[in-house]
Amino acid sequence: MRPAEMVYNKEKGLDEFIDFAREEKGLDLSVYRSTFVNRRLLVRMSYCKADAVSDYIYVLKNNPPEWDNFLRSLSINVSEFFRDKDVFNFFYNNCLKEIIRSKESKNHRMINFWSAGCSYGEEPYTLAIMLLESLKERSKFIPRVLATDADTQALSVAKEGMFKEGAVKNVSSSLLRRYFTRTSFGKWSVNDSVKRIVLFKKHNLFDKPLFNYMDAVFCRNVRIYFDKKKAQHVLMHIHSSLRKGGYLVLGKVETVPVFLEKYFVVIEKCYKIFQKK
Ligand SMILES: C[S@@+](CC[C@H](N)C(=O)[O-])C[C@H]1O[C@@H](n2cnc3c(N)ncnc32)[C@H](O)[C@@H]1O
Repeated sequence: MRPAEMVYNKEKGLDEFIDFAREEKGLDLSVYRSTFVNRRLLVRMSYCKADAVSDYIYVLKNNPPEWDNFLRSLSINVSEFFRDKDVFNFFYNNCLKEIIRSKESKNHRMINFWSAGCSYGEEPYTLAIMLLESLKERSKFIPRVLATDADTQALSVAKEGMFKEGAVKNVSSSLLRRYFTRTSFGKWSVNDSVKRIVLFKKHNLFDKPLFNYMDAVFCRNVRIYFDKKKAQHVLMHIHSSLRKGGYLVLGKVETVPVFLEKYFVVIEKCYKIFQKK
């Protein structure tokens, strides 16, 4: 038996850890199966030679890179097209349709989305596909997806738009046919019609936003890397980049800081979708 397993009180320890993740890191672990979180926690505790959860929390507080190791062990850093499909379905049916209706009534042509912390590009390309699908017969619209990340290497991979089978597993066969080309190396290449509307830029979320008047900002699985104060800073930057009535999508695993409700109306609690007041 490994040391971590000897003194680890499963339920008590897990609850303590879930509270820590929620309060200190803005990560809602309740969306995962508890056995899954428990296994990952035990592995990381054992690796760090922490006998009790409180010891592991001490390690996390004093050695920030270990939080990244824990997130990696949950595969939070691995993205994919239509990640959490239900979030996209909700957004498509409720928010995007409302955005288009409102633009049509005001005769506005631009639709601007921002994927903040876009990683290797799966999220912004998904948004671009969603826009192309919903605007099919409305050629007067000009859709644009701005995609930023602090990681230069991730951005250069993203610009290439080449993805392994696993990244497109949630993409329906009709969308695959319309927006991707299968390469001779068994990868999927994003078509130019999609690439054309995505603009990649290097940007650190702690810096002033590069854009304003955004109709929607997706910032999923990013805030959990920051401590409370920095997370608040980032959210206020995003708030300033949105137009009034624009949407903020934080996704399933983020927790919602209380101050947010001063600036946003809650549209969907579970997917953490908000609208700027
Ligand atoms: C887990 S990925 C999220 C990808 C995508 N949003 C998703 O949900 O699938 C987190 C991304 O946040 C980026 N990131 C972390 N800190 C950042 C910062 N301060 N500014 C900009 N991007 C940051 C990382 O480089 C990484 O690509």
